[in-house]
Amino acid sequence: MPERVIARLEDVSLAFGERVVLKNCSLDIVEGAITCIVGLSGAGKSTILRLIDGLIKPSTGHVYVRDQDVCHTSERELNKIRRSISLSFQFAALLDSLTLGQNVSLPLVENTRMAGAAIAKVVDKALDAVGLQYAYDNLPAELSGGMLKRAGFARAIVTDPELILYDEPTTGLDPISVHMITKTIMRLRERSSGTAVVTSHDLPSIYMMADYMAMLFEGAIIAYGPCDDVRKSQNPIVQQFLAGEEAGPIPI
Ligand SMILES: Nc1ncnc2c1ncn2[C@@H]1O[C@H](COP(=O)(O)OP(=O)(O)OP(=O)(O)O)[C@@H](O)[C@H]1O
Ligand SMILES: [Mg+2]
Repeated sequence: MPERVIARLEDVSLAFGERVVLKNCSLDIVEGAITCIVGLSGAGKSTILRLIDGLIKPSTGHVYVRDQDVCHTSERELNKIRRSISLSFQFAALLDSLTLGQNVSLPLVENTRMAGAAIAKVVDKALDAVGLQYAYDNLPAELSGGMLKRAGFARAIVTDPELILYDEPTTGLDPISVHMITKTIMRLRERSSGTAVVTSHDLPSIYMMADYMAMLFEGAIIAYGPCDDVRKSQNPIVQQFLAGEEAGPIPI
């Protein structure tokens, strides 16, 4: 059976003023898989996540989530789609004055009519999934960077999304925290049978978790496929990027 595609960028172009970020960019996100997007800083990786989440619209082309064209759908449908997606931002951005439990509750308090006790139960489960159940009553200021990242994940999964978008989940963390976060992403995928798209610069972490890898370069996906295939790619741009070499076709 062919793999199902849960989200698709089709021939997307996008410019911010004069700056063309994406140019005829196409990418399929396979359901139930972890897809990692790599590319130079400023290549447009976060932009792709924001497109899938419907936060921005392409100048031309289409973005589909589950057969719905997010650019040409009603506000109501778009809201429905957006409820099935969670974007975990580059910086966790928890509210300083709320406890961890309260922060993680917010998406449920704001978007559902669930009762307090039911919310507490779901939040507890989400915190447990990221190994932070004991920190329910802690304030964000009392947590380390790695814990804040994981708290951000708990907030992202509390609504039981079909698709989780992680923007640089391991940036700025020590190697052990990177490992823990990577494992957490893999476990969350198993738990919710959800799909994940991860942007990252962390190759060891990507090699550990990625089912699929996509490389974004000069506005388009120049390599895409099962992670091992992309690693073995003969494309000199991909080779230079993954080897981290200065010499090669990528203009530095
Ligand atoms: N809202 C915006 N207005 C203007 N320019 C923007 C906006 N958002 C992104 N850009 C520009 O688009 C380009 C791509 O940005 P993006 O954040 O997607 O890159 P990235 O691949 O995620 O980079 P990094 O690896 O550093 O996170 C950058 O040149 C950035 O300055
Ligand atoms: Mg980014």
